Amino acid sequence: MIKTTTFGLTYTFSSLLLVLLIAQQSLAQGNDTFNPNTLCPLLANGTKIKDPRYCNVYIVCMNDTSVSGSCGDQFFDLNTGLCVDPDTIDCISSNPCAKQSTGFAPDPYSCNGYYYCSNGVGTHGECSSGLNYNPDTNNCIRNFPCEITMLPDDYCNIVPVGAFIKVPDSCTQYQTCWQSQLLNGTCPTGFLFDAFRGDCDYPQNVNCVDKNNPEIPVEVSCNQTGVFISDGVTCNGYFYCGEKNDEGDYKMIHGNCPVDRFFVATNGGECLPRTSIRCPYDRCVTLGLDFMQMANIDDDGCIGFAICQYGKEISRAECPQGQYFDEMAQLCVDEEITYAACSTSPSSTTTSSTTGSTIITSSSTISSTTTTTASSQIYTSTTATTEAADSVKVPT
Ligand SMILES: *[C@@H]1O[C@H](CO)[C@@H](O)[C@H](O)[C@H]1NC(C)=O
Ligand SMILES: *[C@@H]1O[C@H](CO)[C@@H](O)[C@H](O)[C@H]1NC(C)=O
Ligand SMILES: *[C@@H]1O[C@H](CO)[C@@H](O)[C@H](O)[C@H]1NC(C)=O
Ligand SMILES: *[C@@H]1O[C@H](CO)[C@@H](O)[C@H](O)[C@H]1NC(C)=O
Ligand SMILES: *[C@@H]1O[C@H](CO)[C@@H](O)[C@H](O)[C@H]1NC(C)=O
Repeated sequence: MIKTTTFGLTYTFSSLLLVLLIAQQSLAQGNDTFNPNTLCPLLANGTKIKDPRYCNVYIVCMNDTSVSGSCGDQFFDLNTGLCVDPDTIDCISSNPCAKQSTGFAPDPYSCNGYYYCSNGVGTHGECSSGLNYNPDTNNCIRNFPCEITMLPDDYCNIVPVGAFIKVPDSCTQYQTCWQSQLLNGTCPTGFLFDAFRGDCDYPQNVNCVDKNNPEIPVEVSCNQTGVFISDGVTCNGYFYCGEKNDEGDYKMIHGNCPVDRFFVATNGGECLPRTSIRCPYDRCVTLGLDFMQMANIDDDGCIGFAICQYGKEISRAECPQGQYFDEMAQLCVDEEITYAACSTSPSSTTTSSTTGSTIITSSSTISSTTTTTASSQIYTSTTATTEAADSVKVPT
């Protein structure tokens, strides 16, 4: 659960924010690839998973490492996390002899293969072409109906239903198993996925280095090191201009302002309260994530508003005659609203209310925390240093 205050309102977010998209079941993982020490860092602390190499072994992911346990003569039931009678569950294991150490067993990877297990050691056999192995009769049968819907190393054979699995190299995507299907999910705009807690949270609370920087629009380019520039696509996104490489191009590192702030290039780049910033891109960014919200519209005299859903503008409307839209109050009001964001007057200086403005540290000492402000939000672009809890790591 995340609680935050934006525009004076308290919003409560929970993992219900996680937006699921149906995805095809991934069969990508190979059987030799199961490694709890690479899987556990993608799962929430405390998640109990099945070791697909056995029927009776489970693994608890703890503090990013793994601790395994055994059910002895019983089998591990992934659904309940308990040890149960072997007859009550269908164990899918990469070891065909895990279920029964002596006798015939199907090949977990193919319909026409089988094993003969002797004291836990399997000898592979294969039905002739066009025949499939029938595990009930231990025969090869023509056109015997068989379809492998779950491979031993599929996430959904290992990770319990509803557990969130971080997508490596992404800071926003995760996957989860539901009815034996692997579903893809993405955190709402402005949020990052926290694998250790299995939830979406504000960037400042998540330690993630996104290797998938957004596309850099052609018109967006750095001309000096140590400054921040707009990402040219979003109101809250920016690039930090890093060192020049051998080709003479600046390294560009993407980042986002905290939720209620927009990026502006003044003073080498800063994040200011959104109502004080004019922005040509979708002002709905980070709004409407779990219930409907509205945003002021650029340059319309503050009479209209955009309706926001999942961080995107879905339509526009106007306040009743004589009223103005107040983004902070999320209401049409009688008093005239003069936010710089929506005023028709040329970019006014109503940004005086920048108490607690977020300064993005701009300087060559970017790798260490240098400046702090009233808001205690500090942006740093670093490699290994772990900053204070309130800071954000800009991806490298
Ligand atoms: C689901 O996500 C995975 C990992 O990012 C990707 O490879 C796959 O194509 C996605 N599937 C769908 C249907 O979006
Ligand atoms: C791994 O899977 C392949 C088929 O994908 C199978 O031929 C092979 O026997 C499996 N290896 C082990 C060790 O189970
Ligand atoms: C992770 O979970 C374990 C067991 O569930 C708990 O003992 C430990 O304190 C947790 N670690 C952190 C850093 O919260
Ligand atoms: C996990 O981390 C927590 C907090 O850092 C610590 O109290 C606990 O002892 C650790 N558990 C293990 C098994 O390392
Ligand atoms: C870099 O570009 C900005 C705006 O694009 C411009 O205002 C500034 O003068 C340029 N700086 C240099 C050193 O060329």
